[in-house]
Amino acid sequence: MSHHDERTFVMVKPDGVQRGLIGDIVSRFEDRGLKMVGGKFMQIDEELAHEHYGEHEGKPFFDGLVEFITSGPVFAMVWEGADATRQVRKMMGETDPAESPPGTIRGDYGLDLGQNVIHGSDHEDEGANEREIALFFDEAELVDWELDSAAWVY
Ligand code: PPS
Repeated sequence: MSHHDERTFVMVKPDGVQRGLIGDIVSRFEDRGLKMVGGKFMQIDEELAHEHYGEHEGKPFFDGLVEFITSGPVFAMVWEGADATRQVRKMMGETDPAESPPGTIRGDYGLDLGQNVIHGSDHEDEGANEREIALFFDEAELVDWELDSAAWVY
């Protein structure tokens, strides 16, 4: 990992998995030049959902959020690159679909505030990255590798 690179946590939510959007979403980050260093297809249980969304406990949408995120499998990922958290957030669009322009993942696929296809660590929340990566992945599940696509063409 070079000094300016950063790792960020990203997850295709149950609606994105059901709609067959894993491949498209992975492609967008690959095309951008980001590097996947972890990926796991998994089912989130109640306990993990409460830990992951703990900051929203008590909010009116919390129960629905937990029910949604545990309703089916998700694809959890760790992506690495310069300013990765901010880049991924920009590519995702906004929580409110009406604020997500076409070209963003939510702007292209989402109409609903809750079922919004993807989650990414909040870049304004200091340490959210490391916290969420550690919650979903063991250190041994993260792969340190060189991304050098040109070297593999010939
Ligand atoms: S907040 O309230 O400003 O902290 O909201 P935000 O950090 O943008 O995201 C909250 C997460 O909860 C999901 N969610 C909702 N947010 C707001 N209102 C309603 N009704 C709602 N329902 C679900 C929202 O998609 C955010 O999920 P993540 O996975 O973090 O993007």
